[in-house]
Amino acid sequence: MSRRSRVRSGVRSSCVHRLDRMSERELLRRTAEIAGDFLESLDERPVWPPASVDELRRALGGPLPSEPTDPLTVVEELAAAADRGVVAMPGGRYFGFVIGGSVPAALAADWLTSVWDQNAGLVVGGPAAAIAEEVAGEWLKELFGLPPATSFAFVTGCQMAHVTCLAAARQAVLERVGWDVERRGLVGAPPLRVFAGGKRHVTVDRALRLIGLGSESTVPVATDEQGRLPPRALEAALAEHEGPAIVCAQVGEVNTGSVDALPEIAELARQAGAWLHVDGAFGLWAAASQELRGLIEGVDEADSWATDAHKWLNVPYDCGLAFVAHPEAHRAAMAMTAEYLVVDSEAARDAMDWTPEFSRRARGVAVYAALRSLGRSGVAELVERCCRHARRFGEELGRLPGCEILNDVVLNQVLMRFADDATTRAVLETVQRSGEAWMSGTTWDGRFAIRISVSNWRTSDEDVARTVAAFERAVTAS
Ligand SMILES: Cc1ncc(COP(=O)(O)O)c(C=O)c1O
Repeated sequence: MSRRSRVRSGVRSSCVHRLDRMSERELLRRTAEIAGDFLESLDERPVWPPASVDELRRALGGPLPSEPTDPLTVVEELAAAADRGVVAMPGGRYFGFVIGGSVPAALAADWLTSVWDQNAGLVVGGPAAAIAEEVAGEWLKELFGLPPATSFAFVTGCQMAHVTCLAAARQAVLERVGWDVERRGLVGAPPLRVFAGGKRHVTVDRALRLIGLGSESTVPVATDEQGRLPPRALEAALAEHEGPAIVCAQVGEVNTGSVDALPEIAELARQAGAWLHVDGAFGLWAAASQELRGLIEGVDEADSWATDAHKWLNVPYDCGLAFVAHPEAHRAAMAMTAEYLVVDSEAARDAMDWTPEFSRRARGVAVYAALRSLGRSGVAELVERCCRHARRFGEELGRLPGCEILNDVVLNQVLMRFADDATTRAVLETVQRSGEAWMSGTTWDGRFAIRISVSNWRTSDEDVARTVAAFERAVTAS
């Protein structure tokens, strides 16, 4: 009997939803082949996929199936129908937004995470998952050089890491003025101000909204030409307000990669009795490198940090990380209980006490695998390599006729433009259409610009050369 017919007969011979053991193995093996074919095609396939959304609707759409379909057919047909609409995001020439790939150990561990299908909210929902997260969390603290008592949470992304950290911040700064926000909420609470640079990431604003701090609570501080929060301007803003305060700084501005002056900002926050939160979605990973660590000096002086593993650690989506220097505030903001929950916090850490989620994926498993596979030196090398590629982009693209590099390339971000908005847009669209590389546009100080983010372990010297060549052709054509 052929493999395929065995899988299909497995379906027929048992209940429609169940495969016999051999058939399930065959299904996963075939899925692995499809996955391997996809990964091996990354160098050749256009980075931006050719299918229109209408074509994809036709390929994937149709009425709700009234009858079951065997799993192998589902997977094979799904892969075939989706193929022309899958972005080569895990490949080495995807430079959009700030997007990492997946290092092989993390990808494989993520598959196992799905196979194990643990509910990692409670230790009782998966002890091995809980301990893998515990170990990975401690490794990360060490890698980032955070204070030993720091607590952590594995969440969906930096967005929810901000929510987690800022909820802890809200709890702590209001408690200092005698207000128990977890019990009394914000109605009638002393006003709480948030001081943040004008170029803060938009997810900070949404996190503040979600924890009940409307946009009028934020005091935006004008940033410098690289998007940094100037300490003197922060000092002036802080001096105009009294009462509970949170300062949001960032290491790694999303367009320029610029880093705030943390030692000065931490000192100002301390003097004002404010909580200092750092958005280090990608920039915090500079801490892993001896070469780059100086750039984020003072980062360990903050009260909380939000970052991502799905960016620079290159684990599959989704995985964000929240760290809080004051575990009691973190736990007070997140923990909850119910009679039916089986909790043994003495033995191990129940993740639901530290995250805004209840049921949850065992995200720490892929992080554990990435850190074991790369080791400290591998993470450092990955981060440094991406920065080296970014510097090369800055140098080689900066030599193209009419090209202006707008940022100091201090990390992995390159911001550039050509003579005017129309030319810049035309060059970008030509490169995107070529399929050779993909990056997005942005607006910087009112002018259209192209942003390149190098965050993927797969990006090679050859990928950089192919991308520079694509720009050369686009410039000639424009
Ligand atoms: C500086 C910064 N903060 C926050 C975020 C949001 O991260 P996530 O998409 O993981 O929620 C990003 C995303 O690029 C970012 O660059």
